[in-house]
Amino acid sequence: MTEPFTRVAALPAHVGETVTVNGWLYNGRGSKGLRFLELRDGSGVVQVVVREGDVDAGSWEAAEALTQESAFRVVGEVRADERQTGGVEVQAASVEVLALAEPYPITPKEHGVEFLMDRRHLWMRSQRQWAAMRVRNRIITAIHGYFQGEGYVQMDAPILTGNAVEGTSTLFELDYFDEPAYLTQSGQLHGEAMAMAHGKIYTFGPTFRAEKSKTRRHLTEFWMIEPEMAFYDLDMNMEVAEELLVAIAEAVIADCKPELDILGRDVDALRRATQTPFPRLTYTEAVDLLTSEETQAMLDAEIAALEEERGGLEAERDENRAAYGQAKKGEKRRIDAREIEINVRLDEIEEALRNLPQWKASARDFEWGADLGGSDETVLTRHFSTPVIVHRYPAAVKAFYMKRDPEDDRLALGMDVLAPEGYGEIVGGGERATDLAFLREQVAAHGLPESAFDWYFDLRRYGSVPHAGFGLGLERTVAWVCGLGHVRETAPFPRLLGRLHP
Ligand code: 4AD
Ligand code: MG
Repeated sequence: MTEPFTRVAALPAHVGETVTVNGWLYNGRGSKGLRFLELRDGSGVVQVVVREGDVDAGSWEAAEALTQESAFRVVGEVRADERQTGGVEVQAASVEVLALAEPYPITPKEHGVEFLMDRRHLWMRSQRQWAAMRVRNRIITAIHGYFQGEGYVQMDAPILTGNAVEGTSTLFELDYFDEPAYLTQSGQLHGEAMAMAHGKIYTFGPTFRAEKSKTRRHLTEFWMIEPEMAFYDLDMNMEVAEELLVAIAEAVIADCKPELDILGRDVDALRRATQTPFPRLTYTEAVDLLTSEETQAMLDAEIAALEEERGGLEAERDENRAAYGQAKKGEKRRIDAREIEINVRLDEIEEALRNLPQWKASARDFEWGADLGGSDETVLTRHFSTPVIVHRYPAAVKAFYMKRDPEDDRLALGMDVLAPEGYGEIVGGGERATDLAFLREQVAAHGLPESAFDWYFDLRRYGSVPHAGFGLGLERTVAWVCGLGHVRETAPFPRLLGRLHP
């Protein structure tokens, strides 16, 4: 529709015209007779210049009264100004207050992450959070674009289910009219049914895991994209995952430059990650690399680098705090914003430095047969600049539905894709067992109730064919693409252990 006002992002196309813009005050400063208002409208930020002599008394009063995050409307002329982001500013002819804001809580210094998370509903207005959500949006459209372009049918898997998919230890159970039900852990099993009806499908929906530990990559509610393809084997499955990840990274690099700038994302690293083919390592090869001397040396170097970065950030914060008293109002705002960034990063560094010695030991002592833990994955990915695909895990650490490797019965034809730069597993999947008797055995061996899987067994009774698929975790993908240290910044309202509000 044609809107009766102009979005900030569209202003460059209106130089010389008089426009109406609506937004919130991101930052205000000024001197006698002159106010600079940074107006934020969700599409961008523009500087509005208000001169006391150019506007009526009511407008000037409004401009002076505006507090941070007050909503206001400006009518004015768009002027080209190369110094401004977007290359334009607005010369106000009138300013109208829409809603004055109370003193805004996200300004004072020394906000820890928990303080910000408690105010997530407001924190999401700040630039970094805004940028991350825009990248998330682009990733979502890239995923649909890839699958739709390849002829997949999107399917909505049920959220309330009667069966576990990924083990019983992370189930959210609820009472479904006197019958036990679960919030779905994965749409895979229902996706397999749909693949037998449509050939290739993908789900894109919320999934739930009662994860009882606090880590930087576990949410209790996350979005998963699960393609499932009839007549695909493990190798074809890997190829789909690789193409999908390249499509995602390329879309974001092409369309989200301003967002990646705000996030301080190393775009070259992201571009390097699109080099195909991604390395494919068997689990056994991955274990050899993990336990090597080379890995130990790499981790020592990393500890040293983080200690140096911490020193630099602490010095910068001390300098900023010392300058704070003398600083002008606008400068104070900049210092406050920077303090938040520094605190978030210091938090991440502290956590990494707490963890690294443990990771070193765990890598050195890793024994064939165990599942790769989060830290092991992080360590492994430090060796590569692209995502790396690890396949053929010990069957004992994988789900009941995995097909066995015909060459080695100890192994399952499963695969994980580990994102580079330490991000670790973003994709898990594999080739599915097709044999009814084998599946029955596995359901029993995993302690799952056979009756809940009757319908699933039917898929092996009526035209069982080789098929494969995987699940891509949206939030972990956003974290990697944005270069964020924790999944809590990848969802609008993340749900984690101990975090249900806001
Ligand atoms: O490896 P997972 O558990 O695999 C499955 O659920 C399969 N049924 C998928 C399939 O083959 N269709 O989970 C898949 C992905 C992980 O690689 C990770 O990216 C994400 O889902 N994931 C989580 N993301 C955030 N928080 C959690 N607690 C997650 N658990 C899994
Ligand atoms: Mg997994």
